[in-house]
Amino acid sequence: MNKFPKNFLWGAACASYQCEGAWDEDGKGPNIWDDFCHMGGHVKNQDNGDIACDCYHRVQEDVALMKQCGLQAYRFSVSWARIFPNGDGIVNPLGFIYYDELVDSLLKNGIQPMITLYHWDLPSALQDRGGWLNRDITRAFARYAEVVAQHFKGRVHTYMTLNEPQCIAQLGYGVGVHAPGLVLDEEKVAQVFHVLCLAHSAGMRAIKAVDPTATVGVVTCGRQCYPQTDTPQNRESAYQETFNLSSPGWQFTSNIFLDSLILRKYDETAPETVRRFAHTIDPSDWDMMETPDFIGINIYNGEMVDAEGRYVKPHPGAPVTACKWKVTPEVMHYCTLHIYRRYGIPVYITENGLSCNDKVYLDGAVHDAERIDFLHRYLLELQKGIAEGAPVLGYLHWSLFDNFEWAEGYDERFGMIYVDYKDGRRILKDSVKWYRNVIESNGDSL
Ligand code: BGC
Repeated sequence: MNKFPKNFLWGAACASYQCEGAWDEDGKGPNIWDDFCHMGGHVKNQDNGDIACDCYHRVQEDVALMKQCGLQAYRFSVSWARIFPNGDGIVNPLGFIYYDELVDSLLKNGIQPMITLYHWDLPSALQDRGGWLNRDITRAFARYAEVVAQHFKGRVHTYMTLNEPQCIAQLGYGVGVHAPGLVLDEEKVAQVFHVLCLAHSAGMRAIKAVDPTATVGVVTCGRQCYPQTDTPQNRESAYQETFNLSSPGWQFTSNIFLDSLILRKYDETAPETVRRFAHTIDPSDWDMMETPDFIGINIYNGEMVDAEGRYVKPHPGAPVTACKWKVTPEVMHYCTLHIYRRYGIPVYITENGLSCNDKVYLDGAVHDAERIDFLHRYLLELQKGIAEGAPVLGYLHWSLFDNFEWAEGYDERFGMIYVDYKDGRRILKDSVKWYRNVIESNGDSL
């Protein structure tokens, strides 16, 4: 039997601010990450995305590389401020130049384009009006979604409205380590989640109105637990703890926004602050929620729990990535099953990967054995979830290129393609050559 389903989609992902550069070209307006970086003091080494990987000027070269890597799909985000320099109002006539070239070139090379509408780079003009705290933004988002979907009708069939509401809300409005850098109380963060749910829903309706055949998802991240021992009781405790809002860190659970969107209620484990906010919601808001066609799961690691649901600390010296994230392949087995059990809709792995201390070796190549080992382990575990019935539609590696890693600047290298930031030169790492074989064999080589 084949290890992965017949039409399983293999690809890689990236996001506008992290790779495009050209921050002020062709009529683009400023966004909150331009501001956050230029302000200074927020990002390591005072790095910024002004040039990044310079993808904006290298479409042909980059798509040729993707082809060489054997990718079947490329997930990228559109920069809202390129299309609407002021967030809404008039469309920038040059806003689609880059995306048109990218989409057409992907299609010509048999690579499926998948668009994320919002990967954190909000037009500054909308932030000036309250950003994701102001529910008027849902109208601007719907208009933006409509314009993009109309533009790509017939060429792009898969959209993701929002990338990781958890990071948007908590990192941007709760602890302020991401743009717009606000430090607000928990009730306000809950409000941001609610507005994001309304925006996803309005955006999804707008896309479907212009292109009823489009598939529209949303991308989640955050806590995923896995059992220390694979017994029914331990599995159950891992499931319960994954969605337990009363454990610390409710902001980094999937249910804090997926429950609102799909189950149209808050979980009974929600903390007091969230309940207080929930009481202020107009009941008619629940009728406006749209269930996505799929859920994108961004997954890097998970928490091991025992049969009683207690967290098990990693043993001393347990493997970590270059940025010290835990390496826990087992989480791939369970995360898709958890999400499917709770929400009953198909999933993609929309991001998974690691940062390594990659460098160019004496022979001119980038030997990232660590990435190959990581991927191999994670993909084998993903296959177990699929074998147990999780409807996983595809796997998109994060990331295609090394890129601007938000507050960490360029220090972390997540790519399967090395980028030399001195001159923009790209080098295929060993891992992408390995990944090409995985793709060609639809995972049978694992
Ligand atoms: C984000 C990416 C980020 C990656 C690695 C995800 O949270 O969607 O933009 O680069 O994780 O940190």
